[in-house]
Amino acid sequence: MSYEFITVSIDETVGLITLNRPKILNALNLQLVDELVAELERMDRDPAIRVILITGNEQAFAAGADINEMAEASAIEIMKRNQFAVWDRMSLISKPIIGAVSGFVLGGGCELMMNCDIVIASETAQIGQPEIKLGVMPGAGGTQRLTRAVGLRKAMEMLLTGDPISAREAWQYGLVNRVVPVEAYLQEALKLAKKVAKQPPLAVQVIKKSVHKAEDLPLQEGMDYERSGFYLLLASEDRKEGMQAFLEKRKPRFTGN
Ligand code: HXC
Repeated sequence: MSYEFITVSIDETVGLITLNRPKILNALNLQLVDELVAELERMDRDPAIRVILITGNEQAFAAGADINEMAEASAIEIMKRNQFAVWDRMSLISKPIIGAVSGFVLGGGCELMMNCDIVIASETAQIGQPEIKLGVMPGAGGTQRLTRAVGLRKAMEMLLTGDPISAREAWQYGLVNRVVPVEAYLQEALKLAKKVAKQPPLAVQVIKKSVHKAEDLPLQEGMDYERSGFYLLLASEDRKEGMQAFLEKRKPRFTGN
């Protein structure tokens, strides 16, 4: 498939999606988000891909929704676009998504980052939700996912001032996993992606889903969900292989069955 605003490649079993509107700091117009989600869904179906990595460039992961596109549209037009439906599809991707972010990670860019399961940040990253400065508010999870990630008071401060936080502060609040020098963030993310890609794929997907359930479900329901996943994985070929390999003191060969 050919795209205008993203580029796509594959490295071993990692699918790499790069946001590609560098002149305007990877501002997320509707077409870019459509292309991104179409490719995420394609990679999710592609058996050659086990982990997906989303990145931008050193200067910007993404500076938010495209303000030109929003400025022209009326409330009714934006409502009719139902543009957030495509964002909801992102949370249905079953393979792990690693984010490699640098520079501006703002507004919709921060919301996109929060849709990633693991995030490696360059030490230049500035992460925030500046929508309030435009007289609006986040619409793709900025008040919800950010509050779950960093807690009510930090989220409130970020959302009400619109000021970004540094990569290091984001790390202190658990919003990103790791902060590395700008020269290394993409390689570090790729290394991590390849490590996860070597794990048994069924276990990876069931664990991903189970961890996300922890954000939605009361504890006992989450525990029940976890247990069902545990029993399900006991029926997999890879579980037999993993345990056999341990007993035979050799490396497992996982097939995804
Ligand atoms: C459209 C944008 C843009 C955006 C930057 N540009 N952000 N265009 N939408 N979100 C464009 C600029 O107009 C400019 O184009 C070029 O990118 C470079 O930006 P500068 O402002 O010249 O760079 P700099 O001075 O370094 O400032 C960088 C910045 C600033 C701090 C990131 O650009 C900025 O504040 N951008 C807006 C950030 C923002 O408010 N994001 C939230 C959007 S609302 P020209 O043509 O002049 O060179 C949102 C809602 C999400 O995300 C809802 C869910 C989708």
